[in-house]
Amino acid sequence: MRITYYGHACFFVEIGGKKLLFDPFISPNPKAQAANIVIDNIEPDYILISHGHDDHLADAFEIAMQSNAKIISNPEIVKWFDKQGVKSGHEMNIGGKFLFDFGTVKMVKAVHSSMLPDGSYGGNPAGFVISNEQEGTFYFAGDTGLTLDMQLIPMICPRLDFAILPIGDNYTMGYEDAILASNFIQCNTIIACHFDTFPQIEIDQDVAKKAFSKAGKTLFLPEIWMSFNIKKK
Ligand code: NI
Ligand code: MN
Repeated sequence: MRITYYGHACFFVEIGGKKLLFDPFISPNPKAQAANIVIDNIEPDYILISHGHDDHLADAFEIAMQSNAKIISNPEIVKWFDKQGVKSGHEMNIGGKFLFDFGTVKMVKAVHSSMLPDGSYGGNPAGFVISNEQEGTFYFAGDTGLTLDMQLIPMICPRLDFAILPIGDNYTMGYEDAILASNFIQCNTIIACHFDTFPQIEIDQDVAKKAFSKAGKTLFLPEIWMSFNIKKK
C-alpha cells in the first residue's frame, strides 16, 4: 500500500486497487496551498471522515461531487452530506466492521467532540482500522486524546503495520501521550499528523522524534507530499 500526506490529518492511501482519502482539509490549509495541492486533481474512490470538525472535512463535499467518491463516516455525518447532495455514503458506527472492495474498515472509538460546520450534531468522533490481507493493516486514530480503549485494538484487529496518530497536543494527544498510545496499540511505527498546522499545535519536532526513539519507536513527521510504501510485516 502507498500512503501520501496532504497536510494536517489528510492522507491519500492506495490499497487493494482503490484510492482512499482521509479527512480532507486542503483548500483552507495554507500549508497545503503552499505545497500546491489542488483538490481538482484528487479523485478518490472513498472519503473517510473521522468527525465533524471543519479541519477534517472542509473539502469533502467538492471532492465527493467531482469524483463520485463514497463517504464513509458516522450516520450523522453521512446524512449531513446526503442532504447536500452527496448521495453515496456508507454509514458506520463505533465497533462496527465492514468488508469493502479494498479491505475491511473497523470504526473504533476516539475521545474528542464532533460538531459539523453549520452547528449540527456531528455524531461520535471515530478512528478507523483499515486492513487488506495482502497489503497490511493500519490505524488512523482521528482526533483523539489518549484512552485505554486503544488497548482493545490489538485484541480485535489484525496486527498493525503502522498507525497514524495526532501528536500536536492542545486539541488531541501530544507526543508523550502518543508514545503511550503506541504501547496500547502494540505498534512501534507511527506516522504523525495534526501538528504544526496552527499556532496551537506547533511542536518541537526534534524533541518528539527523540522521545519516540528513546522509547524504541519510530516517529515519522511527514512533509506534505511525502509518500510511504508500506509492506505487510
Ligand atoms: Ni477535531
Ligand atoms: Mn482536528
